Amino acid sequence: MQKTIAIIGAGLIGRSWAMVYARIGHEVALYDAFPEALDKSMLLLDDNLADLEANGLIDGASAVRSRIHRADTLEAALEGASWVQENALERLEVKRDLFTRMDAIAPPATIIASSTSAIPCHEITDGMAGAARMLVAHPANPPYLLPIVELSGADTTSAETLAGARTFLENAGMAVISINKPVKGFVLNRLQVALLTEAFKLIEDGVVSGADLDKTLKHGLGLRWSFMGPMETIDLNAPGGIRDYLERFGPAFEEIAREQTEFRPWTSEKYARLEQDRRTVMPASGLAERTTWRDRRLMALTRHKMDAAKEIGE
Ligand SMILES: NC(=O)c1ccc[n+]([C@@H]2O[C@H](COP(=O)([O-])OP(=O)(O)OC[C@H]3O[C@@H](n4cnc5c(N)ncnc54)[C@H](O)[C@@H]3O)[C@@H](O)[C@H]2O)c1
Repeated sequence: MQKTIAIIGAGLIGRSWAMVYARIGHEVALYDAFPEALDKSMLLLDDNLADLEANGLIDGASAVRSRIHRADTLEAALEGASWVQENALERLEVKRDLFTRMDAIAPPATIIASSTSAIPCHEITDGMAGAARMLVAHPANPPYLLPIVELSGADTTSAETLAGARTFLENAGMAVISINKPVKGFVLNRLQVALLTEAFKLIEDGVVSGADLDKTLKHGLGLRWSFMGPMETIDLNAPGGIRDYLERFGPAFEEIAREQTEFRPWTSEKYARLEQDRRTVMPASGLAERTTWRDRRLMALTRHKMDAAKEIGE
């Protein structure tokens, strides 16, 4: 059933959500506090949608585009909306201010979801009159190509809101997981932080270059991870399954896990060194073009996964 969706904050994530909802037939209102950011986003949509069409991932770019409308005020964006997706800056005070204002404007049945990467839901919604209809729906970047969404409520979020959000997002083609307890960074970013923490140490200690570390993922771990997770991976990496795997490798891996508990602060000196390392591989002027390349590779991979799933009847 066609719905009206409000997207608040039209940067990387907001623009991408607009395509997710418009491509399945919803009408989308896109709003940003900064008109120039909204102008830029509306232009970039055309390129992204043309690429999706060229990769056979949507039927008609112009039909999808015609369902995405520019909203010049928060009130106009929220008018008649049944779902609000907030994607403003990752700052608690910005999100609390927006949620308070949206709670006062949005019709009572509207669900209000935040894309926050790390802020637990209750920190955003505590004390708000409409807290029962608020939750976090955290995507990966960019949501129009990576289907995962982490759903996380506060104690005050109603069961109906959580169930309604799951149904809505699954109908939009997303893969939804439930975060059962309040936790900073949910699951995706906690896993990402664990991997990055170890990657930074290995690079800092001169064990490996950043470029070779990336190769380890792209030609190794990441190839499997594009269609299965680490729990299934280790279940298949020893003939007797996960227990056999843990008995073979557990003693050595436990020693490594103990070494990995050493904490190293995330300082600006660290950031400068890591940036310098990356800029030797690719100049900053190449970042935008490389992002387009990444999205096109993700589109080709999505196409491949859809065709493969059909072939093997998944
Ligand atoms: N970039 C990622 O990898 C990623 C992934 C998942 C979730 N997120 C989350 O999504 C949200 C947006 O991130 P992004 O990467 O799109 O950032 P971004 O900087 O690209 O976009 C943020 C947009 O919000 C607008 N904005 C700022 N204050 C506003 C306000 N009060 N009202 C309306 N719009 C406002 C800005 O003008 C900007 O266009 C953040 O909460 C972030 O943590 C980001």
